[in-house]
Order: sequence, then structure tokens, then C-alpha cells
Amino acid sequence: MLSATFLEHCPQWRDFALVQSFYKFINDVVIFETEIVDKTARRIAKNRFPQPLPLACRYDAMTVVVDEDYHALVALDFLQQTVALTGIAPIDMPEQIELSHALPAAQAQVPAHLRDAMELVGVAIAENTVTHDVAAFSKDSSIKASVRGLMADHLFDEGRHALFWTRLVRLYWQTASADDRDSIAQALPVFLAHYLTNNLQKHFNLQLIEHFDVSADVRTALRAEVAAMDFPIGRHHPLLANIMGFLHHSGLLQTASVARALNDYLPVTGRPA
Ligand SMILES: [Fe+2]
Ligand SMILES: [Fe+2]
Repeated sequence: MLSATFLEHCPQWRDFALVQSFYKFINDVVIFETEIVDKTARRIAKNRFPQPLPLACRYDAMTVVVDEDYHALVALDFLQQTVALTGIAPIDMPEQIELSHALPAAQAQVPAHLRDAMELVGVAIAENTVTHDVAAFSKDSSIKASVRGLMADHLFDEGRHALFWTRLVRLYWQTASADDRDSIAQALPVFLAHYLTNNLQKHFNLQLIEHFDVSADVRTALRAEVAAMDFPIGRHHPLLANIMGFLHHSGLLQTASVARALNDYLPVTGRPA
């Protein structure tokens, strides 16, 4: 929306685009909570994971299930109220998020007996990715109080979750064999490439443009600007600092094969020799 064409020709579509973007955020949250985190946490809670876990872990996993389903409920409540207050109906929303692709793609890279472990690591990465950014967001007084409250409430639970997943992965990693660790290591770049891509966002932006009442020339120019949106997945990607923090705290990054596999993502000073 900061593109030249949008600023010059579409200022009247700003609020519509912002509200739809907010709807997408809510939609993504619901998919993430109910289809991704709930699913993995529920299987851990019910002892369906191949690695036997202490009862305390299973209990904590069940609190994550309850939290995430509650977050999805709050998100839908917020969506419902926003539609009622703005009168703006959501356009068709995506049915998948980046993780919907990243998890199976990474799991396809590892032997069958490691698929669950790969899922655990992927979900743990995702649960550690945005926490700090949400924290900053929930403290920003320029943001509408209701949205800030929504984020702060969610963050309160996510701080706990980040710790839970980090400790669980640490526990797993300590017992994993060298071969298993190396298999997961080589799948991590595949996971990150799918997780950090902006392809789905680009696709959504293109859909959004179709709803603007603008001339054919303006629409073509907007489409070209979206197509040119490049977001390289190198070490400067804004989400990588949090992800690397997680990989460090869970013990993965201390494994040589992990550090080697993620060499391109590490800051120059942190690279293995
Ligand atoms: Fe959540
Ligand atoms: Fe969570």
C-alpha cells in the first residue's frame, strides 16, 4: 500500500485494503491455531507421539490446545465485530498459511520415523517466531486500544508456549541419535524456504486488487508492483533473529550439521568455521 500506484490512484481504497488485511491476519491466526498448533499439541497431550513424553509435558500440551482454540474463538469474535462495525465483508480468504506447505515439505525430506519429530521442530519454530514482535505491537500506544488488548492477551499465553515448545524440543534433541539430528538438519532450509516465502501474501494482494474499482491501467500497474515485491529469505529476513534465538535455546544450533545447513542464514560472526 506504500507503492507509488496505490498512493497516487487508490487512496480511497486504503481503509478497505487495511480492513481486508486485518481479516487475513485473523484468518491466518485461526488456521495456525486450529489446524497446526492444536493438532500437534493435541497429539502430544494424548501420547500419540512416538517419543514417550513425561505426563507433565502432556499436561502442558493440553493447556496449549485449550489456549489455541480460545485464541481462534477470540479472533472470530473480533472478526464478527469488525464486520458489523465497518460493514465491510471479508473477501475470499486463503485456506492455507505458509506452514500448511512448510511442514509437509520438510517432513517429506526426512525418513518416516522422523516425521513427527520434524513436525515438532517446525511447530516449535513457528511458536517462537513472532512473540517478540507481538510484544512490541502490544506496547505501541498509537495502535487502537481494542487491537492492542487483543494482541496483549494473546501474547500473555504465547510467552508460555514459546518456553514450552523450546523445552520440549530440547528434551527431544538430547535423546535423538546423530543420524536423526543430521536428517532433521538438512530439512531445516526446506522448512524455512516455505515458511518465510511471501508467495501467499503476494497471491492475497493480487486477489485484493481485483476488488478495487479502478481503471484497467491502474489495475495493471498495481499487479506489476505486487509481482515485483521481492522479499529475500537471507540472513536479513526480519523473522530470522527470533528463529535463530529458538534454535540456539533448544540446542539445535549447537549441532554441527544444523549450523552447517543454516550457514546462509547465520550472521557472518556466528558461522561455523
Ligand atoms: Fe495462539
Ligand atoms: Fe501458541
